[in-house]
Amino acid sequence: MRERDVASEAMNQHLVTRLRAARRPVVLTGAGMSAESGVPTFREAQSGLWARFDPMELATPEAFERHPQRVLDWYAWRRELVARAKPHAGHRALAHWEAANPALWVITQNVDGMHQRAGSHRVVELHGRIDRDRCHHCAAVAEPPAKACARCGGPLRPDVVWFGEMLPEQALRQAFQAVVEADLVLSVGTSTLVQPAASLPEEALAAGVPVVEINPEATPLSDRVDHWLPGTASAWLPRLVAVVTRESQY
Ligand code: APR
Repeated sequence: MRERDVASEAMNQHLVTRLRAARRPVVLTGAGMSAESGVPTFREAQSGLWARFDPMELATPEAFERHPQRVLDWYAWRRELVARAKPHAGHRALAHWEAANPALWVITQNVDGMHQRAGSHRVVELHGRIDRDRCHHCAAVAEPPAKACARCGGPLRPDVVWFGEMLPEQALRQAFQAVVEADLVLSVGTSTLVQPAASLPEEALAAGVPVVEINPEATPLSDRVDHWLPGTASAWLPRLVAVVTRESQY
């Protein structure tokens, strides 16, 4: 049985030792990582024009096939949100950690490119990128605002993974490899409900790799991680990284 630790205000010595000892850390990020940048999570209420639509019914291949323009309009709106959003202190902290330890991997379910904008380079994108298009038929990549696929004439759609679709094989393989080789895994801002990304921290736990979770809400993982840090990504990550780089005692 693992000794679970729910951190209060103070970071404890056990966590500090783990952070400083990590040679091959992996950080898994989800929608909660981008929330403080102004990109709403899918599960948050939709605002304005889109309030009456359930995102689960917009982010599917069936929705695109039935109502292509509606789905494209929704993505145009989300693209604008992403373009206006800015990386926060948590994103910058991860880029700083990579600068101090080039072995760090960030594996993200986010499609907004915020980690790279903050300066991270080793980023595995499991769910694609919202600022690219690809052909719904032949998967050729295209740059918006092209209207049809240059290769096959098929309809273009955002290069993101929709509910019911497969994840990019290479990204998934890289992600699992990084996790089994890791000596510390941080799970940040993800509900750990959406598969297969949700099985990455499970894989770490099964392999005996210490797992730290940052999330203001409990998730199915929180009971089983080594340290649950209830709070936000922008509050915790700068503190953790300052400990790693010894810019703070803790
Ligand atoms: N800091 C850390 N965590 C946060 C913050 C924050 N500031 N704000 C919210 N959270 C947490 C929530 O408590 C929740 O557990 O982030 C999590 C977001 O959960 P989801 O919306 O389910 O996001 P995610 O786990 O990334 O979902 C996976 O599903 O939403 C779709 O395709 C989308 O890639 C996404 C996938």
